[in-house]
Amino acid sequence: MTIHFIGAGPGAPDLITVRGRDLIARCPVCLYAGSLVPKALIALCPPGARIVDTAPLDLDAIEAEFAAAFAAGHDVARLHSGDLSVWSAMGEQIRRLEARGIPYTITPGVPSFAAAAAALGRELTLPEVAQSVVLTRTSGRASSMPDSERLEAFAATRATLAVHLSIHVLAEVAARLIPFYGPDCPAAVVYRASWPDERVIRGTLATLPGLVAAKPIERTALILVGPALQASDFRDSALYDPGYDRRFRRAAEED
Ligand SMILES: C[S@@+](CC[C@H](N)C(=O)[O-])C[C@H]1O[C@@H](n2cnc3c(N)ncnc32)[C@H](O)[C@@H]1O
Repeated sequence: MTIHFIGAGPGAPDLITVRGRDLIARCPVCLYAGSLVPKALIALCPPGARIVDTAPLDLDAIEAEFAAAFAAGHDVARLHSGDLSVWSAMGEQIRRLEARGIPYTITPGVPSFAAAAAALGRELTLPEVAQSVVLTRTSGRASSMPDSERLEAFAATRATLAVHLSIHVLAEVAARLIPFYGPDCPAAVVYRASWPDERVIRGTLATLPGLVAAKPIERTALILVGPALQASDFRDSALYDPGYDRRFRRAAEED
């Protein structure tokens, strides 16, 4: 008996991994994290499966579901949106499983920042423009930010930022970033990337809050910021340069 944590991807049901899909189809218990997990994935559960939306449950109740499945010898598909490595609350569940000696596996998923980049049609790292992507958020009701991880600290690097869980404070985010990136820095909001009602709003740090305010977005959106979002005069990467020594190309491809 095993608890299988599965990244359900950003929304489109065909953006789950083959491994994740197959696990859902064979587990007699499925726990899924609310409305961000598409119903089409829940429909893959085998007939008669116990299917539980964990959005209204607290951690003790989720642990009780795990313990009951363990006692019955039933494998569990545990679905969270996007990938499990960021803002999934998997860490605290794993801690409880380890304390009980319940085995688990982790199957990664497509994270929302990758789906948002795809919706924008952009690579987030470009030679000599940006070589890092910062996945971050602003503080919320449930979680405060460590002081060293303030938006300003990341902005000082001028890397590409993917700001999660912060669409409700978009104007404040833009105001805090302008001193570092400038008002004309490309910025975008992607709402429900890969869902049928996906929206993409492109602008600059100065214009984006006004553009979004015209048709407000309250949740499930990413704010992306950085020169890489619109740069066109960057140099080609060395990888496909005809003058790049074959030996190095092979090594780079293996990275
Ligand atoms: C609790 S976090 C979950 C992140 C998720 N584990 C991931 O891999 O992206 C929820 C936040 O992720 C972002 N998000 C999740 N799904 C999204 C989507 N389809 N489109 C845009 N943003 C999304 C939003 O910023 C949302 O507030």
